[in-house]
Amino acid sequence: MAKRTKINAILLNPETQYETTVKGWVRTFRSNRFIALNDGSTNNNLQLVIDFTTMDEALLKRITTGAAIAASGTIVASQGKEQRVEMNVSALEILGDSDPEKYPLQPKKHSLEFLREIAHLRFRTNTFAAVNRVRNTLAYAIHEYFQQQGFVYLHTPVITASDAEGAGQMFSVSVLDKLNPPKNEDGTINYAMDFFGRPTNLTVSGQLEAELGAMALSEVYTFGPTFRAENSNTTRHLAEFWMIEPEVAFNDLHDNMDLAEGLLKFCIQQALTKNADDLAFLNNRLLDEEKQKPTNERSEMSLLDSLNFVVSNDFVRLTYTEAIQILKESTPNKKKKFAYLVEEWGVDLQSEHERYLVEKHFKKPVILTDYPKDIKAFYMRMNEDGKTVRAMDILFPGIGEIVGGSQREERLEILEQRMDEMHIPKEEMYWYLDTRRFGTCPHAGFGLGFERLVLFVTGMGNIRDVIPFPRYPKNAEF
Ligand code: 4AD
Ligand code: MG
Repeated sequence: MAKRTKINAILLNPETQYETTVKGWVRTFRSNRFIALNDGSTNNNLQLVIDFTTMDEALLKRITTGAAIAASGTIVASQGKEQRVEMNVSALEILGDSDPEKYPLQPKKHSLEFLREIAHLRFRTNTFAAVNRVRNTLAYAIHEYFQQQGFVYLHTPVITASDAEGAGQMFSVSVLDKLNPPKNEDGTINYAMDFFGRPTNLTVSGQLEAELGAMALSEVYTFGPTFRAENSNTTRHLAEFWMIEPEVAFNDLHDNMDLAEGLLKFCIQQALTKNADDLAFLNNRLLDEEKQKPTNERSEMSLLDSLNFVVSNDFVRLTYTEAIQILKESTPNKKKKFAYLVEEWGVDLQSEHERYLVEKHFKKPVILTDYPKDIKAFYMRMNEDGKTVRAMDILFPGIGEIVGGSQREERLEILEQRMDEMHIPKEEMYWYLDTRRFGTCPHAGFGLGFERLVLFVTGMGNIRDVIPFPRYPKNAEF
């Protein structure tokens, strides 16, 4: 057999009348003659045309949906209208059989819920293959964006002894015997006997370590898995998700917003350029889905429209205080349509409020800044008013919060005071405070939830469908 060509390359190549080999999985086989073959390089299948009269009967029976095959032949202009080119097969080999009676994926539409139960096979569907190719482009784009600007990719630890970030409940990491752990005299577990000689957890964020890196390398970013053990069964939360956390010395909040807005636009633009076919497919998928909804619940823009819209418009920037004013005076607040009414300054915003601002009021991505100190983390820089901190959250249509970040408190005394107020043990955090003791400087950073970005770009409705193997309460099967 000739050397293998990926199907995407064949479909993009204007030439015909050349010999090659393709390998992939059978999507459908009809009339004993036409095989739709997919190899994951594109959502489009290559049509293989076989001459069943010359083919061995036993071999013919083994061409079933899901089987892996290799085929050699000539690429010719297609007789049919459905495709431009097809392959006239001269030799065919079964690489792996698939029992069509037992293969869970039939050539029909399956529900996303069902596909989650067979997450080990769902890559073989058009939807998940497209989502994962887009995810790949976005991951690469993240690196491209930062690398072009001279950032250093920093690997922060997954196992950590610090839980001071306070971003969420942590998963503990321990090798102690669960039934019979070593005990202290007072009956508590003796972690001195554990692997690290102290309690350890899976990290909720690499930020604090990234700050240490930024205080020498100037511009760093992390891109790795983070873990949160909250029992939040929503379409926006995972227990294991990937986060991108840049941290930049000498940046203030405005630089931070520019960096984040630039990153989001660059990534979306890359997907529009590199995944045109996949996004066209996902766009149509969403249109079909929207048709099932009542007219007043349908989105005003298609997926492609909203991606182009975000790339070509400035994000709205306003303070929390201004946002509260808008929300207080909003129709759903006055008509008591919000589940949580906005009555006074200082309340945390619920996702219904964030979505109102983005989807109804501004109809644009929004960056909210300068939140009340009491609803934000200890490390955010205190404003002159003593009430608000230099925080920023970026809110996206259909998603809500996609980015959370801030300018950091670089002044040792104020930072220590904040830690006392929030009961954060300063002694254990000496390593973090040392950056403020030795050559502290203004700096800022943020965290972008990678799956929330993939969710937005693919137009999928549930975050569990944009990561290959989702981790959420009561689910870690595959
Ligand atoms: O707002 P968060 O909690 O911020 C931090 O962790 C900071 N240390 C970031 C920083 O300043 N370096 O999380 C950041 C982002 C959120 O905006 C959201 O997009 C995503 O991470 N995120 C989640 N994504 C999926 N599942 C979850 N459970 C998430 N929790 C947060
Ligand atoms: Mg946040």
